[in-house]
Amino acid sequence: MADGGVVAVIGTQFGDEGKGRFIDNLIESESISVVARFNGGPNAGHRIVYQGKSISLHLMPSGVFSDGVMNVIGNGTVVNPIKLVAEIDELIAAGRTIDKNCLLLSNAAALILPSHIIEDIVTGGKVGTTGQGIGPAYMAKVGRHGVRTNLLANPAIYEKTLRDDLEQSLKIHGKTVEQWLGMSTEEYMVASVSAAKRLAPLVNDAGVYLRAQIASGKKILAEGAQATLLDINHGTYPFVTSSSTTSAGVASGLGIPPTAINDVFGVAKLTMSRVGEGPFPTEIDQGELADKMRGQKGTVDGEYGGTTGRSRRIGWFDAVVIKYAAEINGLTRLGLTKLDRLSGYPELKIAVAYSYKGKRLDGFTGDIEVLAECEVEYETFAGWDDDLSGIRTYDELPQNARTYIERIEELAGIPVAMIGVGPEREQMIIR
Ligand code: GDP
Ligand code: IMO
Ligand code: MG
Repeated sequence: MADGGVVAVIGTQFGDEGKGRFIDNLIESESISVVARFNGGPNAGHRIVYQGKSISLHLMPSGVFSDGVMNVIGNGTVVNPIKLVAEIDELIAAGRTIDKNCLLLSNAAALILPSHIIEDIVTGGKVGTTGQGIGPAYMAKVGRHGVRTNLLANPAIYEKTLRDDLEQSLKIHGKTVEQWLGMSTEEYMVASVSAAKRLAPLVNDAGVYLRAQIASGKKILAEGAQATLLDINHGTYPFVTSSSTTSAGVASGLGIPPTAINDVFGVAKLTMSRVGEGPFPTEIDQGELADKMRGQKGTVDGEYGGTTGRSRRIGWFDAVVIKYAAEINGLTRLGLTKLDRLSGYPELKIAVAYSYKGKRLDGFTGDIEVLAECEVEYETFAGWDDDLSGIRTYDELPQNARTYIERIEELAGIPVAMIGVGPEREQMIIR
């Protein structure tokens, strides 16, 4: 396979680790030809700073800012055509060309129908979903009554499918289309049909394309959305998303053999966060410390949801979680973000073990009852005050920062390969 193969980029925590900016960065440093998104839908928000402007990508793969890179939206994703076209238009407005030379949409991805969005709004509160229709769209797919992206090639049937779907949904949930979707039925149909016509030329067999790229020795980056603890099988169920977010989801979500994956890059944020409901053992109670770590709303790196704008819950770095992510994903290396944001604290903590009912646990568990009651054991580290945003080599970092990183590396059992010291593309230390 020469130098090719597949590197998977996977979130190790509860999402928003900085996967998008890492992918944007890895493309150049690792000669990536194709970026392929394998799971999730517009619930994701991958923020990338491009020419000084920050853009949050939702379904669009993070290779769209690099010339000559092919972007693939795989069969494992769920697609809202109106939203995808809005993303394309935002990128065009930012100066990018988006056409079939740089974007391929799988013909076998699941379509998010209006009833899925309505159902998610009605039922998603307990989990704190993003309200994008993700769970219901995957339910329809797994229930074998969903519709797929190949339908976009036939706008008349697509429109009829949408009308029937809306009619059924309103019978169940009442209210008007305007109240649910923010536009009238006719506006929704016009936007949907127009989106179908724009996307249809991009629709193709993603698996065939990707397997051919692998066979020709090209290097592919599989882009994960959400993260290990939001995985439908291995996360903090039911406070999870509805897809396979771990490296196990890459092969089925792209139509490639698992043996093609030869590198699994885990992304972890040092100012750990969670948005939505569910257990968070190292959560820092609301207050001055959490506010300082969260940062300001409206700033490029403030901890507010890239999709919903919700304030993210904040916590200390949890090495129990990272060890679990390393094991379950087969991580080969780790990328850390936001080291720069840890300057100015007298001390920093890292969670190293959990105990439950007086007994030390072997490692992480997805059992939410245990997580809700477990006691967390921390190690404490001396902080630093230096501004790290201009540092580009590991050896220039303050000794206390290096001690902190090296302890994470030791606890995770895998090397820390890259460290973010700011949201911009070049604010990165490569070790
Ligand atoms: P993703 O969903 O995993 O792609 O992550 P998000 O984009 O939702 O959230 C990560 C946030 O951290 C974004 O606002 C990034 O701009 C920001 N970010 C990423 N890496 C760094 C870093 O090293 N330093 C700082 N200060 N911000 C970063
Ligand atoms: P990225 O890719 C953080 C969370 C939601 C909710 C749960 C289920 O940017 O890291 P869903 O709408 O998927 O049914 O919601 O998952 N969630 C995310 N949290 N980052 C994300 O994506 C997320 N996508 C979903 O807040 O708790
Ligand atoms: Mg995000």
